[in-house]
Amino acid sequence: MSHSEPNNKLFIETVGCQMNVLDSELVVAALRQDGYELTGNMKEADTILFNTCSVREHAEQKIYSQLGRLKYSKETRPNLVIGVMGCMAQKDQKLIFQRAPQVDMIVGTGQLAEIPELINESRKKRSRQMAISLSRRGGSRTEVADSFQSYDPLRDPTMRPSPHQAFVRIMIGCDKFCTYCVVPTTRGPEQSRSPSALARETQALAEQGVKEITLLGQTVNSYKHVEDGKEYRMADLLELLHKTEGIQRIKFVTNYPKDMTNDLLYAIRDLPKVAHYLHVPLQHGCDDVLKKMKRGYTVPEYRDMMHRIREIIPSCAVSSDFIVGFCGETEEAHQKTMEAVREFRFKNSFIFKYSERAGTKAADNYPDDIEDKVKKRRNNEMLDLQNAISAEDNADFIGRSVEVLVEGPSKSAVKAEQNRPTNASTNQLVGRSRCDRIVVFDGNPRLAGSIANVQIHDCTPTTLMGDIITRTIQHGSSDLLPILQG
Ligand code: 5AD
Ligand code: SF4
Repeated sequence: MSHSEPNNKLFIETVGCQMNVLDSELVVAALRQDGYELTGNMKEADTILFNTCSVREHAEQKIYSQLGRLKYSKETRPNLVIGVMGCMAQKDQKLIFQRAPQVDMIVGTGQLAEIPELINESRKKRSRQMAISLSRRGGSRTEVADSFQSYDPLRDPTMRPSPHQAFVRIMIGCDKFCTYCVVPTTRGPEQSRSPSALARETQALAEQGVKEITLLGQTVNSYKHVEDGKEYRMADLLELLHKTEGIQRIKFVTNYPKDMTNDLLYAIRDLPKVAHYLHVPLQHGCDDVLKKMKRGYTVPEYRDMMHRIREIIPSCAVSSDFIVGFCGETEEAHQKTMEAVREFRFKNSFIFKYSERAGTKAADNYPDDIEDKVKKRRNNEMLDLQNAISAEDNADFIGRSVEVLVEGPSKSAVKAEQNRPTNASTNQLVGRSRCDRIVVFDGNPRLAGSIANVQIHDCTPTTLMGDIITRTIQHGSSDLLPILQG
């Protein structure tokens, strides 16, 4: 398709997790090969795709309201193709056509490779297209797993968080079946990709100038793949990818508490490119609730894991997710979560109000009985507590220097620049420390993609502020200022 041909303007909206951000990158890359151009303006698009999330109801409502606004769009744009892809497509399937008849195409998480073809079919025949994977009870494990294809063929640098950062999917799906969670249904059975394919992909990204990779999976530390007679676990995979020249930092999310082996912790400690940062969601601080959530561990077991992390990698930052207002959560249970937040001093916590999801064990067995205003109050209490802890722990960095992988101009700086003339050579830059803390400092935008040492002089709960250390201070010694690990 050439530049001037019609029907090639693509608008894509992505909601949800990093997995979705990566899926959108891959779909855009494939469509660009077919001659599509991206547009940021939904009104001038010929193809509109929504990459959707089902983890909480709010994310779905957002998409249905967007679709509602397109209800009459076909009257003036008869060629328009509207597609819903991702988790909501896999979960709601045909129901989406019923709720939003203007939708032309529904594509599940395991069928993304078919999108270019399905758009063509839909436009050519003006007919509805749907491609989804088998449901978890729709066949043998192998049949279901095969119906969820991992889709990682082409990459598109313009769709990345920044030119130097890229996601690499190491596994798809989840087999944990936490009772509140829809992901095992929407993303299918857990399947790890082969180490050799991952090494090739990482190499290709490094050749494109990527400095930091974030390995993605629902439970990355459960990674397991046998290749050439050798079993690779997460520690082995890190060791393999660590060899990639040009890659300076490796992160991975999300971890599952029960699968945090000492081998993995030693690998993090011993491989200098690996971030000292672990996202390991605790979800709740009360054993009865954890049991009801079917998380598979108790608070004391999580505490043991935390002690091992702190002992083996003292500078490691740990972050968590929490759900407040889960079915039957008492005030006492909530206070136990507050206590856990106090005890474990997470770098940050993502806190969510429980949202009942049809088809999950929790929806089938326990009433969603905590009032929304109680959920909100508990959510705010947790946020306030976590913010206070983050502020205290960030203040410990003042006066120390940290190693920052520079991402580029900070977003708030970019916004401010739009309202005033630019000073070309220095800018407010943003990057992350090895322990994943956000660091803001002034510097030349050309530093993007390199490692800088930054002396911290101020902080907020979410950000460290500092000055770049450009030269060695030489008073008889040529040592750099002490660099804080992390
Ligand atoms: N309601 C609220 N939060 C949820 N999460 C997963 N399922 C639900 C739900 N039904 C949260 C968990 C998970 C994060 C990605 O989303 O905390 O770790
Ligand atoms: Fe959902 Fe639990 Fe799997 Fe995480 S581990 S994706 S919360 S089922």
